[in-house]
Amino acid sequence: MTGNSVKLNNGILIPEIGLGTWKADKTGIVAETIKNAVEAGYRHIDCAKIYGNQREIGQALKEVNVPRKDLFIVSKIYQNKHRPELVEGALDEILEELQLDYLDMLLMHWPYALKPEVGTADFNDEDIEDVPVMDTWKAMEALVDKGKVRAIGVSNFNKAVLEKMLPQCRIVPATNQVEIHPYNQSPELVKFCQDSGILVTGYCPLGGTKINVMGDNLIKHIAQAHVCTPAQVALSWSLSRGIAVIPKSTNAIRLKQNLHRVTLTSDEKRMIGNIKQHERKVDPSRDHEQLRWVFHEDEAQCPVI
Ligand SMILES: NC(=O)c1ccc[n+]([C@@H]2O[C@H](COP(=O)([O-])OP(=O)(O)OC[C@H]3O[C@@H](n4cnc5c(N)ncnc54)[C@H](OP(=O)(O)O)[C@@H]3O)[C@@H](O)[C@H]2O)c1
Repeated sequence: MTGNSVKLNNGILIPEIGLGTWKADKTGIVAETIKNAVEAGYRHIDCAKIYGNQREIGQALKEVNVPRKDLFIVSKIYQNKHRPELVEGALDEILEELQLDYLDMLLMHWPYALKPEVGTADFNDEDIEDVPVMDTWKAMEALVDKGKVRAIGVSNFNKAVLEKMLPQCRIVPATNQVEIHPYNQSPELVKFCQDSGILVTGYCPLGGTKINVMGDNLIKHIAQAHVCTPAQVALSWSLSRGIAVIPKSTNAIRLKQNLHRVTLTSDEKRMIGNIKQHERKVDPSRDHEQLRWVFHEDEAQCPVI
């Protein structure tokens, strides 16, 4: 594999920089992005059923000249497939869309469930249903036994949920994919995951489209000192914390730039670590108050795990 890879808790290697594919969904653009990305050196591709672009990604992956074993393909089951009897079928759909016979890693996209008939990211409060996380997780563990996925992990899991979950797991999640950037640093969660052998993968590592991480004066200042881009500073800061990153870009030049890691000084890392601005891009409780526990575990009780 090209670039640096890190070892997951089951011994397999994952490239520390992957390609995000959320909102890379205009027909034609995704295929071109995947081809440009693989040519630039990306081998880790972060997908999800709900992004709605897996078929085009799968087609593009067939057309790039890289052996399957050199790619690391991640996808996520959507919340409407948490009932244990639906989990294998959910994976089969993902594999069919991506035109693959196995996934490198399958994630539980969120720690809450939706009714099976809900198929879009827009849902109503009544669509939320109780399915214990462990029921879904056990069904995911069985997929590892069957050889259909090489690793399993979670996404958007807080510390309280993980603390209840881990003693019940036969397979410890290989990763927890969560929002991490200089304006949402989550030091306690990162430490807990890393102490538990769980790789943290940072999504929205550039702050996404709405959070102005790349316009932050300190980040810009550090970028000037290294003659690099603010994006490279933000990504390198996460990498220096032992966090894998999955920046999304559909621009061939930015794709290449985002693969280049810079070595930040300890002073620079400390200064970024001291940024007081706090903004989270993704939070389901903005639309659904009963999901407040997902990212505000101090204010709301987590459900049965
Ligand atoms: N697990 C989850 O619940 C979850 C949630 C959100 C995201 N994710 C994953 O994380 C990935 C990344 O998150 P994200 O896409 O929201 O945000 P992001 O990667 O932090 O930011 C993407 C934005 O930054 C721009 N950009 C990329 N490289 C740049 C550069 N070098 N300089 C300036 N601008 C740059 C992109 O525009 P251009 O494309 O024009 O370059 C795009 O507008 C997603 O694609 C998805 O795979 C997972």
